[in-house]
Amino acid sequence: MRVIVIASQKGGSGKTTLSGHLAVQAEAAGAGPVAIIDTDPQGSLAEWWNARQSTSPYFARATLDELEEDLTALAALGTKLAIIDTPPAITKAIQQVVHCADMVIVPIRPSPHDLRAAAATVELVEDIERPFVFVVNGATARAKITGDTAVTLSQYGTVAPVTLHQRVDFATSMIDGRTVMETAPESRSATEMTQLWDYVGIKLDKAVQRHGRALDTPGPGVPLAAGSEAPAPQATPRVPHIPLNTTAGRGEGRLRPHTTFGRRSYEEGRA
Ligand SMILES: Nc1ncnc2c1ncn2[C@@H]1O[C@H](COP(=O)(O)OP(=O)(O)OP(=O)(O)O)[C@@H](O)[C@H]1O
Ligand SMILES: [Mg+2]
Repeated sequence: MRVIVIASQKGGSGKTTLSGHLAVQAEAAGAGPVAIIDTDPQGSLAEWWNARQSTSPYFARATLDELEEDLTALAALGTKLAIIDTPPAITKAIQQVVHCADMVIVPIRPSPHDLRAAAATVELVEDIERPFVFVVNGATARAKITGDTAVTLSQYGTVAPVTLHQRVDFATSMIDGRTVMETAPESRSATEMTQLWDYVGIKLDKAVQRHGRALDTPGPGVPLAAGSEAPAPQATPRVPHIPLNTTAGRGEGRLRPHTTFGRRSYEEGRA
């Protein structure tokens, strides 16, 4: 079983929307059985699922303290993919959830506040050494800040080549527990989500091939088996701050991707 965690410190970036939509699309694309797990005390994903007529994807109750055991049990039941929604925060509990991820999806709205908040999420995911991908969500077509956001983010990690635009059907489809693929299958929103899953599915396969299964690797605080050697510490570049190098939206937008405002750039950090 593979595990996708949707995480972003920023409230309202689209974590729950992506969790429900990607789970439905993954199931439709044959990657199921898919389980969704809601670790957010707000319970939005659980409420969405409760309003849903179809029982697929299925909803799995999991406890944070025993998340690994719960995921192992889901795998034993034949689940092929678990998608976990998380709260808008950076806490130890979220660290635990991210530790279980084969891949982390970080939705980001094209706004200065979201970009600034992204740094903390990236730092958390990199600390735990999990592959991650940004998804630009809620974009306005042809707005300069959308492109600028993608370029800025690409300095820090992989950005999904599919952008989700701001469209009311994403929100309205979820009122009665559905998704845009179900309420408006011919819509541009549905096409975007289908393409996003196609991309995420391939990335997920590659991530597992390259890094192995997340739950097979010892996590922070998990004792290594007797006789095994501790892995050599990796020089993981830290991202102390994501500078928003754009003044887009004020008519004079200039993106300066490698300007660092006196800080070492990410590339320098890598060298
Ligand atoms: N692409 C989009 N177009 C239109 N509305 C969207 C889009 N993405 C999300 N929304 C709406 O924005 C709001 C926030 O989205 P969502 O609940 O998915 O974010 P979240 O990151 O889970 O929020 P929280 O951090 O509070 O858990 C919801 O009302 C949702 O319907
Ligand atoms: Mg949410």
